[in-house]
Amino acid sequence: MSDIKKIMIPDLLAMKKERKKISMITAYSFPQAQCVDEAGIDIILVGDSLGMVELGYRDTVPVTMEEMLSHTKAVMRAVKRAHVVGDMPFMSYNISREQAITNAGILYKDGLCDSVKLEGGQEMAATVNAIVKAGIPVFGHIGLTPQTAGMLGGFKVQGKSIDAARKVIDDAVALEEAGAYALVLEAIPRQLAGLITEKLTIPTIGIGGGLDCDGQVLVLHDMVGLFRRFTPKFVKVYADVYSVQLEAVKKYIADVQGKAFPSEEHTFTMKDETVSELRKSLGI
Ligand code: KIV
Repeated sequence: MSDIKKIMIPDLLAMKKERKKISMITAYSFPQAQCVDEAGIDIILVGDSLGMVELGYRDTVPVTMEEMLSHTKAVMRAVKRAHVVGDMPFMSYNISREQAITNAGILYKDGLCDSVKLEGGQEMAATVNAIVKAGIPVFGHIGLTPQTAGMLGGFKVQGKSIDAARKVIDDAVALEEAGAYALVLEAIPRQLAGLITEKLTIPTIGIGGGLDCDGQVLVLHDMVGLFRRFTPKFVKVYADVYSVQLEAVKKYIADVQGKAFPSEEHTFTMKDETVSELRKSLGI
């Protein structure tokens, strides 16, 4: 048996209490999940951002349950330690509570993830509560909610005015009361994220929420330089994996064209006598 200890929700709650920062990142495939888990990440989010960074959609709106389920299963096959969150795609939980429980159940039971995430504040509190009551842990997501960015006037920082800030605080409190065990705070002022973090007993994970959140999340492709369409202000780019891959493939093409690949070390051989016999029988 492996001696790696899986991260559970009580571990995350304890980290908040002990003021240990929680690290979270997205992953969508077996090799990505294997890599971030080996690195020691606390939480992996199989985010619906996969629609943009892996599937080439314009935004996260078109992502389907089938796509989320397939990627969640691939991630779960790789992960040994991290807590894994499956993201509920747009319109998989917005129609009715029954629909939300059914789809949360599919991600949790068939996808085998450790919890599910959905976007929205007070308007989603009853849905969150229904999923939690059905026995599935829920991660909330407030502030800038990409699935409904159109309703917010685009991808803009939220909660800057006193009224807007009060709304984000009310959203956070409503989700905690509904039973969410953690919250993503996306694109809100640092001071507001700090106030929410102080007020709540559940961990807050910022993405564009500043240093005072209990933890941070980034999209893997943004931070390793694999997504080149745009880079939001809150992203720190740690590597240029796209360029490394591009150079490797260019070298491979040149090697194939110049007959430098495959060399002896990448080649299987047989005895000369066997070749001669085959030549004779083929008449060449
Ligand atoms: O889908 C996603 O990657 C997310 C993060 C931005 C938190 O929801």
